[in-house]
Amino acid sequence: MSPKLLDIPGIGRQRFLREYWQRKPLLIRGALPGMQPLLSRRDLFDLALRDDVEARVVQREGRQWDVRHAPLARRDLPAVRTPRWTLLVQGVDLHDEGVAGLLRRFRFVPDARLDDLMISWASDGGGVGPHVDEYDVFLLQAQGRRRWRIGPVDRPRLQPGQPLKLLQGFAPEQDFVVEPGDLLYLPPGWGHDGIADGECMTYSVGFRAPPGDELLRQLLWNMAEELQPAPRYSDRGKLSASLAAHPARLPEDMVDFVADAFARLRPSKADFARVLGELLTEPKQEVVFEAGDAREAARIAARRGLRLDRRTRMLWNRSGMSINGESVPDEAGRSPLLRRLADAREIDAAQYAQASPAERELIAQWCEAGWAHAGRD
Ligand code: SIN
Ligand code: CO
Repeated sequence: MSPKLLDIPGIGRQRFLREYWQRKPLLIRGALPGMQPLLSRRDLFDLALRDDVEARVVQREGRQWDVRHAPLARRDLPAVRTPRWTLLVQGVDLHDEGVAGLLRRFRFVPDARLDDLMISWASDGGGVGPHVDEYDVFLLQAQGRRRWRIGPVDRPRLQPGQPLKLLQGFAPEQDFVVEPGDLLYLPPGWGHDGIADGECMTYSVGFRAPPGDELLRQLLWNMAEELQPAPRYSDRGKLSASLAAHPARLPEDMVDFVADAFARLRPSKADFARVLGELLTEPKQEVVFEAGDAREAARIAARRGLRLDRRTRMLWNRSGMSINGESVPDEAGRSPLLRRLADAREIDAAQYAQASPAERELIAQWCEAGWAHAGRD
């Protein structure tokens, strides 16, 4: 079942999106009343040591900082009582169903923008220092207390000689202590420094916004791969004996020939959507799906419906659909049933019963690849 979207107490989601999103920070006290950590400290430490998990340890000693990156070994984690260190585990939603469910409560922002949920555990005084992030973030206090100091940063100057990007001369504007269930929204470019006040855990819901040049690079790459053979350049009737005065000169009409060929490419809006869909549904590097049995899945889905794997990324628009980096071909790419599956991340047995043979074939392929599973949550 789809989890309930997060309420933003006091102002509601609509006002939040209009007035705060990408504009200014908001501290939401008691956004998740009774918040309890979804993973214990021990579970988080165990997760951090796995080789398919992105994690790092940040420790401060005086003015100097130390960072250790995955793969981490047990000895990379200082003792819990040692002050001023923190463990940050990226993409916990990929590994834990409860955490994935919490991330889905933030789907009032499109999936195309949602990135992952990171969990940090910090000993007393621990944190990652004053910094700015390039992306929007919701910082949910899950356990213990954390003191936040935040403020706008126009031109970030970085502390020299540190292994992480720390702001030099950060001048915070606000200073407050958060408790479990409190939620802090920060737009990109806001400086922040969170220091654990006793042992604490913070969940960061991160977003992403691809830069234009990255999208264009991907588009051009895809277009290059799909180019049809084009006629060869010809200078029939264009050469004259006078050109011999400058034999090294690149013929102008050869330049025009390429410019014309390029102008004829004219990608359609559907081409742009396809590139975006493939790029944004590309699974994270460390994701490995476990193969499933398609026939068994079809048998069970007829009785109990179907769900997407929690790691599956799926996006659609009016012209097509993508799943885990691949475009869905033809008619099926515009299938209302598959759109429903993408939005709700599940369909029930009655909906599955209405699937066309082409839709069933695709679903079978996805179950075989481990992208979807029979049975709903
Ligand atoms: C943390 O959880 O300690 C850091 C999160 C952040 O500053 O983005
Ligand atoms: Co940050």
